[in-house]
Amino acid sequence: MAVGDEYLQRIGAALAWTWPKEMTHADIKMVIQQFVDTARLMADAGFKGVELHSAHGYLLDQFLNAKTNLRTDEYGGSPERRARFVLEVLSEIRKVVPPTFCVGIKLNSADYSSATFEDTMTQIRLFVDAGVDFMEISGGSYEDPKMMGYPKDSEPKSSRTAAREAFFLEFAKEVRKRHPDLVLMLTGGFRTREGAESAIAENACDLVGIARPAAVNPSFANILLDKELPDEKAQLWLDKVRPPFYSWFLPRHISGGGAETTYYAGQINRLAKGLATYAP
Ligand SMILES: Cc1cc2nc3c(=O)[nH]c(=O)nc-3n(C[C@H](O)[C@H](O)[C@H](O)COP(=O)(O)O)c2cc1C
Repeated sequence: MAVGDEYLQRIGAALAWTWPKEMTHADIKMVIQQFVDTARLMADAGFKGVELHSAHGYLLDQFLNAKTNLRTDEYGGSPERRARFVLEVLSEIRKVVPPTFCVGIKLNSADYSSATFEDTMTQIRLFVDAGVDFMEISGGSYEDPKMMGYPKDSEPKSSRTAAREAFFLEFAKEVRKRHPDLVLMLTGGFRTREGAESAIAENACDLVGIARPAAVNPSFANILLDKELPDEKAQLWLDKVRPPFYSWFLPRHISGGGAETTYYAGQINRLAKGLATYAP
């Protein structure tokens, strides 16, 4: 985990995260079983499906990504072999849940991981062939939390992210071209009905995911769908959350992403206690 090369940044990272180690085959078997047990528990409890979180630098993403997967066995070395762990989780889950149970996958778009575009496309084809029910396109990690809409200071603000609401729209369109029948979901940046509708009208996605606006107003999805409300009322713009002063030693895109998550987790906490929520 690298938050930066400066002395304090390296100490901070070492304190916050443990040193990674290679999983043994027994570890892999155990973790696959844990995913399977969880999916079966969800099905037994009446949930209609699960989403495999294979984005944001979490374990499944670590297997997919050449930057973090340095293995030389059958779980590493090529895009196909790096996808093997996720594919095994997927197929083992299928064996224990009802045929109607939905199994989706959340994936980082190629622009926001170290993988090349074609590597990611190869892996997407494997997931499609394996029969995922939907794919959610996201991006980023703790090192670079793109999903929270924080570009690095060094990055030029591209016209596409400046002009459009959704963070990962262009990549979703590419996936769509190659897999027209795959149910696609796009999450990140949607704040207006017009933005959500245009992503669907442009055929970039079938489903729109909403996170932070829903933490401030859990009825936001209903507001977007309420035909009685004009477009001007079907939107919720949110200011960026200011990082706290004591995070000065972290790069802005990391402290900013962390501040966003902390703030909105606080709002979800307030909802749980029946308290009013506030936009930042
Ligand atoms: C408090 C909070 C918790 C989050 N937890 C998760 C998570 O557990 N898994 C995940 O995939 N994304 C998580 N995210 C990221 C969101 O799913 C989403 O990708 C991101 O907030 C961008 O969407 P938005 O612009 O609609 O907020 C979280 C976001 C927030 C604000």
